[in-house]
Amino acid sequence: MRCNYHLSSVKLSSKKFSMSKFSSYDFKDQKALIRVDFNVPLNEKYEITDDTRIKAAIPTIRKILDDGGSVILMSHLGRPKDGPTEKYSLKHLVIHLRKLLQGATIFFANDCIGDEARQMARDLEPEEILLLENLRFYKEEEKGDEAFAEKLGKLGDVYVNDAFGTAHRAHASTAVIAKFFPVNKRMFGLLMEGEVKSAEKVLHNSEKPFTAIIGGAKVSDKILILENLLDKASDIIIGGGMAYTFLKAMGGKIGKSLCEEERIGTADEIMKKATAKGVCIHLPPDSIIADKFEATADTSDAPSNNIPDGWMGLDIGPNACDQFCNVIKRSKTILWNGPMGVFEMEKFRHGTKTIAKAVADATSSGAFSLVGGGDSVAAVNQFGYANKVSYVSTGGGAMLEYFEGKELPGIAAIKQ
Ligand code: 3PG
Ligand code: MG
Repeated sequence: MRCNYHLSSVKLSSKKFSMSKFSSYDFKDQKALIRVDFNVPLNEKYEITDDTRIKAAIPTIRKILDDGGSVILMSHLGRPKDGPTEKYSLKHLVIHLRKLLQGATIFFANDCIGDEARQMARDLEPEEILLLENLRFYKEEEKGDEAFAEKLGKLGDVYVNDAFGTAHRAHASTAVIAKFFPVNKRMFGLLMEGEVKSAEKVLHNSEKPFTAIIGGAKVSDKILILENLLDKASDIIIGGGMAYTFLKAMGGKIGKSLCEEERIGTADEIMKKATAKGVCIHLPPDSIIADKFEATADTSDAPSNNIPDGWMGLDIGPNACDQFCNVIKRSKTILWNGPMGVFEMEKFRHGTKTIAKAVADATSSGAFSLVGGGDSVAAVNQFGYANKVSYVSTGGGAMLEYFEGKELPGIAAIKQ
């Protein structure tokens, strides 16, 4: 008994010790300036079609309000080129934000700096929220302008960066602003902490076998991540349009499948490096082929290295599904970035759906799985597996750059 008591108290105190800066910070009467990534898709009526990124920031906002602090939210939306533009106004998000944060008072400032924003920030009472207008209405944001960052910084007492999706941008509100706050008043929010923790686990602390599933259309987008993963993963599954450049590099006949001729040499090099490093690269042995890139195309299946002229591979075939699922099943760590086929079209959905299920099954058997990148996240959401994988990243470009081994400016600024 004594021993048990001793062990559990040690566990408890070490847990307390490792509480994050954000979790242990008391925000009472503090104005927290949070950089969020509310860059969400809107339809032509300015309705949000996917609120994942907003929802992901709610726990951070809640903790500050519950402590008795107030929240000033700043974000970009889209890529406005010429200052204020109706289409890119963050005012379109206010109603939805009110729904997600029921009970909270939310104000909107028509500008992110200037008298109005300053006054509204000053008047903010504990437990109230102020959403600022799009940061990118000022060119200074993307330029990483110091004076602009300093003006933004004056709005709050504490700076919280919770914008993992924008952490790869060295902009005023992500990378420059932090230095205007003392070290104890700049920190990651809960979303950023979660993202970094799961990415670090995969990249530096993975239990083996570690399988990376890399898909999508273009090899050129994925070369750096593949190179970096050659030093980390035990198996790399390559699917999607990019697989055909690899198959061609191996001498395969790929019909009119997607191929980046200028990347054939790179694909060959990656395969040679993988062999030298003992990493097993898995390419789809068969494909679902189509006579055109259309939802109504005629389809068939064929060996991926013997696709008839005039046909193209648009999904992985049944043997590829079996083979890939076996690899996934015996994995203890899984990273998935990029779909296996054109899953937006029903006829070419099966491969991506099968892989999503395999990743979910492996997770329920104890593997750690991280899914990131716009399309693969859309796929796990669409097929109902988002809650069945260990972590779904809110980062597209940011996640990719993280796994390429780059230091992200938004993360580095807080760590300094
Ligand atoms: C994203 O969605 O990629 C981030 O919000 C960053 O936006 P950006 O690609 O326009 O810089
Ligand atoms: Mg982007």
